[in-house]
This record gives sequence, C-alpha cells and structure tokens, in this order.
Amino acid sequence: MFKVLADVGTDAAIEYARKHPSDFLAQLREFLRIPSISTRKEHDGDVRRAAEWLAQNMREAGLENVKLFPTMGHPIVYGDWLHAADAPTVLFYGHYDVQPADDLDLWKTPPFEPDIRKESIYARGCSDDKGQVLLLVKAVESFLQGAGSLPVNVKFMIEGEEETGGENIAKFIPEKLELLSADVAYVADTAFADYNRPAIVYGLRGMAAINIDIEGPRLDLHSGSYGGAINNPINALTHIIAKLKDEDGRVLIPGFYDNVEPLSERERTLLNENEIDIDNWRAWTGAPELWGEPDFSLQERLGARPTLDVNGIIGGYTGEGSKTIIPSKAHAKITMRLVPQQDPQQVMQNLIDYVTELAPASVTLKFEPSHTAPASINDLDHPAMKAAAAACKEIFGRSPLYKREGGSIPIVGQMQRDLGVETILLGFGLPHDRIHAPNERFHLPNFYNGIETVVHFLANYAELG
Ligand code: BES
Ligand code: ZN
Repeated sequence: MFKVLADVGTDAAIEYARKHPSDFLAQLREFLRIPSISTRKEHDGDVRRAAEWLAQNMREAGLENVKLFPTMGHPIVYGDWLHAADAPTVLFYGHYDVQPADDLDLWKTPPFEPDIRKESIYARGCSDDKGQVLLLVKAVESFLQGAGSLPVNVKFMIEGEEETGGENIAKFIPEKLELLSADVAYVADTAFADYNRPAIVYGLRGMAAINIDIEGPRLDLHSGSYGGAINNPINALTHIIAKLKDEDGRVLIPGFYDNVEPLSERERTLLNENEIDIDNWRAWTGAPELWGEPDFSLQERLGARPTLDVNGIIGGYTGEGSKTIIPSKAHAKITMRLVPQQDPQQVMQNLIDYVTELAPASVTLKFEPSHTAPASINDLDHPAMKAAAAACKEIFGRSPLYKREGGSIPIVGQMQRDLGVETILLGFGLPHDRIHAPNERFHLPNFYNGIETVVHFLANYAELG
C-alpha cells in the first residue's frame, strides 16, 4: 500500500513519541511536584513557578513566541507555531493550576510527591489537568522534533485560574482576539466514558456560585437562657436549604427551569448510548443508592440537567464534647450547575430573591455572589469532531462516545462566543481518577496514548479541515 495523501510527518512524530516515554514521564513528575494551588494565597509563588516551568517546557518542545501574559491574578502561558501555510489553526487550552489537596491524611502518598502504582501516577493535578496539558505539548513536540514541522498551525493558551473560575482569562480573551484567532479549539481536561472507551464531550454545564451568611444574635448565646426566644441561624439556614430542592432533586427556585430546553431525539439517543454500569457506580461512590430526577436517565441527569448543591456549611460549635449555644452565625456555600440558555446572572438573582423571601425576620441575610460560567454545547458536525473521532479509532481501536459533561470549563462557552470557535473536548482521564479528591490519579497508558491520539488528530484535521 502506498499513501495517496502527502505524508504530514505522522509516522516520524509517532516514532519520536515512542522513543521518549521516560523523558516525558520525568517531565510529568517535575510538573506535578509544583503545588500550584490557585485558590490559596500562600501558593501564589508555586503557581507562578508552574507557569514558568510550563513555558520553558513549551520552548524546549519547539514552540515559538512563548511568554507569560500577566493578569490581575495568575499568568496565562502562551506559545505558538504558525508555519503551516494554508493549513488551519488549532488553539489548545488547558490549566496548570490545581485544586487544594486536603484532606492530606487521606492521601496514601503525599499529593505533590508523584508516586506510580500499577499503571497510574498519583498526585494532585495529574489528571486535572497537568498530565493532560503536558500530553498536548508532547504531541506538538513529537511533530516538531520528530518530523521538523506540524501539519497545522497551533497556539497554546494555558491558564492558572481555571479551578477558581477563570475570571482573568475571561478578560484576556476579548483583549487578544487576533492573537488567539483559530479555526478550532482543543481541550484535554475531561475523561473517557469508561476504561478504554474514549468520549468526546460536546457539552459542559455552566455554573453560578454563591455564599450565604445568616446572622442571628450579636454573639453566641446560652441555649438554655435564650433557646425558644431567639432564632438559631443554623436552624434558619437549614430550613432555607431544605426548600431549595425537593426530595427527588428538582430545584424549587422560581424560574430556575424557565429557559431549559428539552433534549432533542438525536441527543437523547447519543447520550443514552453510553451505558453506565449502575452497580459499578454504586460500588465506586459508596453511596447506597443512586438518586435524582426520576424523569431523566442517569446520563441525562449527569450532564444535561441543571442542579444545585450545597458544597459546604459552616456554623456553631463543632469541637469535642458539647457546647450549649445558639450560635450567632451560619454560612453556606452553594453552587448551581447550569445548562445552555440558563443565564448564570439571572439564575443567581432568582436564588437571592427566593432565599430573601424564605428568610424569617428573626435573622439577617448577606449574599456573596461568586463566580459564574456559561454552559456550552459544541457542533457535533464540525470537521474537527470527525478528525478527533478518527484519531480515537486509530489509537484505541474504538469510536468515541459523545457525552455532555456535568463539570464546568468556563472558557469553552466564551471561546465560542468571543472567538467564534468550536471546541473539541477529547480528554484522557478515566471516570474515577478522583479529580478534586484525595489520591487523584492518571492512567499512564492514557498519557502515552493521549499523545499519539493528539498527533493523529492534528494530522487528520490537516486533511479534513
Ligand atoms: N477538569 C474539570 C472539569 C471536569 C470535571 C471535566 C469533571 C470532566 C469531568 C475542571 O478543571 C473543573 O473542575 N472545573 C471546575 C470549574 C469551576 C471551579 C468554575 C468545576 O467544574 O467545578
Ligand atoms: Zn480541569
């Protein structure tokens, strides 16, 4: 057999990747050792160090114009290679920041001392998202160092604030429309549907986050002397929380579902092709039963329906023994996961209005709205979707499933709106990588196969795009 199409260097790139697995792994370990926790001030220096480390790695890969763009928060790492005349441009996005690692006691090995057990590497951020960012750089390096060129133009935009809502990149994009212009964006910050079953995520949920403070008496009061006459802020808060959702998980905030569109037949069919093994889910999560809106399948509930969750609740005495008080304050941290057409600001306002109405006169309320992100849906018929699906087939021997992800990547909707680009979300995590949890891990075969998949994606897209 001879190749009809011009050789774009795929074979040389793959050969290069297969020659350097231990170098790539050593680099991954270095990157993971930097505790780039974006939500903690005391780690600001580490976050910066991770950005610098990445920039240097990108330079060594052969990327050009690599620089750190300062923001009001953490820098954005940019780099490009733009010498593929008449070929399309791919904009890679990812994040080098990580979630906090606590509870530290629950880690089998320390979160910033990567450890390999069986086929996985364990460290905070290995799957979300440093391992995946690095595999993108290694795919590009494989072309540049192995074949001397890339079949398409590439740009990298890697941020350090994704885990805190990405406020600064949201301002960066509209200021840099020309620099960031591209034909398609590629993000590896998601997971497979199952072990050895790649998934292209074509929809992400959006987010509205808010903190609620409830205050009662000026100071903690003796619950004997005052109980029954002074309202308890924790009780008041839990009454309010109980009215946010019904027992099946339907959100009770007036107007919450106003703009939620029913799923099309095409989507229902696509989503439900992803057969979820419920026993496995139960065993993995340890929850005695799965739960949620009865009128929707698990797949639909997981990505295509909006939700509300209390992420944390603080208040009163939680130390050893008992302390008989009416606490003076209570706090709750709430996030809502949204679907397209729901306006995050409007949803937030609806929640504020509803909670205000529910709160009794015996307590005072304070709202602290936090980050918002729009949901996104990407075009399933985009040529890059086909290029990605073909790459999955080439490397994993299986077509990908198509799913809507319940998590959020705030920038994807914004790239669609501001840059007019669709995004291919083909990540290489596994469903139970424990992202955001202790003992986060990344399946190393997916690291290496991910590199090769991205190599093939770029080659395929050069032909199809
Ligand atoms: N990588 C995740 C998004 C994700 C979660 C993809 C689960 C696939 C499965 C991302 O880094 C993340 O965690 N995003 C935050 C964004 C938030 C802080 C605005 C999220 O979804 O909580
Ligand atoms: Zn992530």
